[in-house]
Amino acid sequence: MPLLAALAACTRDTPVPEPPRRFPEGFVWGSATSAYQVEGAAREDGRGPSIWDTFSGTPGKTRNGETGLIAADHYHRYAEDVELMASLGLRSYRFSIAWPRIQPTGAGPANPKGLDFYKRLVEALRAKDIAPVATLFHWDLPQALQDAGGWEARDTAARFADYATIMYEALGDMVPTFLTLNEPKTVVQVGYLWGAHAPGFRSPQKAWVAAHHLMLAHGMAVQALRATGKPAKVGPALNLAPVYPASDTDAARAAAHLRGGIENRFWLDAVLRGSYPSDVLSSIGVEVPVRPGDMQTIASPVDLLGIQYYNPLFVTDSGPDSIVTKLPTSQADWQQIHPDGLYDILTWVKREYGDIPLVITENGIPVVEASDDKERIEFLRGHFIAAHRALEAGVRLTGYHVWSLLDNFEWAEGYSQRWGLVYVDYPTQRRIPKASAHWYAEVIRTNEVR
Ligand code: FCB
Repeated sequence: MPLLAALAACTRDTPVPEPPRRFPEGFVWGSATSAYQVEGAAREDGRGPSIWDTFSGTPGKTRNGETGLIAADHYHRYAEDVELMASLGLRSYRFSIAWPRIQPTGAGPANPKGLDFYKRLVEALRAKDIAPVATLFHWDLPQALQDAGGWEARDTAARFADYATIMYEALGDMVPTFLTLNEPKTVVQVGYLWGAHAPGFRSPQKAWVAAHHLMLAHGMAVQALRATGKPAKVGPALNLAPVYPASDTDAARAAAHLRGGIENRFWLDAVLRGSYPSDVLSSIGVEVPVRPGDMQTIASPVDLLGIQYYNPLFVTDSGPDSIVTKLPTSQADWQQIHPDGLYDILTWVKREYGDIPLVITENGIPVVEASDDKERIEFLRGHFIAAHRALEAGVRLTGYHVWSLLDNFEWAEGYSQRWGLVYVDYPTQRRIPKASAHWYAEVIRTNEVR
């Protein structure tokens, strides 16, 4: 359009449509799931019990007493699910490996049937040109290890490194990217401080000891990969949340800064700087059992950082635990919707920690509508645009995984929240792509967001 005509058009009432935002060539669009949430087959082929079997099997712990016993039956339907991913054009699939399928008691030789399942899955993905991203720990700790002290026991970190080595040896030539731990912060907060996830404790003492051993497990698993000489890349998957003061006061700003330490700096400083932030350490009131050499292990160089973003937090001047809701939420009452928070956290990570490659390993929303899930499309559009803005600001973001491919077992919420791009009709296990899946397929095909 000639310039003058364009200017004239701008002055009229009709809104000028935003130009489509094009992502860099090779940007990796994917989606994510986790073992306990989708696999089912909880008692098959030698899989041992995990803490999530125990927790969800305990009356009153999950909504309607629901469990992952069958879930989305992905263990049996993985081939169909890979076909589905291919039909949507996904370039990457982030899944997790169930540790108790590989080592039913968390130690000892690998269960061949467990290994075989993940080999078949990875082969199916590669045959469709979908890059496998394997998370080693997405919360389903073998129950036998919990009985021996769980993450409070330092030895669990060593057990994790052994298990990681088994997986690197088995898949390290076929899987280009491993993620060590999924959201250690959620394990610590929801599993050890609030008691709403397995193992269900409410103890700051246990929580911060577990936090350190989780981080140690991460570092040991990074070293274990290097020791195998396999070419795969590795990093953690951390959920980060921008924390804003709820009001314009110095006290609220100070509280937000400390909360940001608990939410973000504690985990990032450990992995990328080899230290825990002193303001967080002095606020938690628990002696973290750091031994000489631990922090160097934890800060073993990683190849990438997986970032999971769902929501921001607002903190009042009453202190770092005084979190308030200022924005509309999704069906998950903890999830305030704020796409710009993704831009804020990505650019903050770059400013604070430098140019490590970042991958969004989770972002998504639960929506009640089974098929016409407009709210998910709006949510994803807003967040994709925020990610694009971050790219324009120089953030080294290489890919994006939508949580989740399939509706699944949402932990304590059972099956009441549907996070999938694809609807799962649980009685028949039929998969039906939602409107958002079709919309996402178009984003992937064009590499553009409109
Ligand atoms: C994340 C978890 C994932 C899923 C989403 C909704 O915290 O990593 O398993 O439950 O939230």
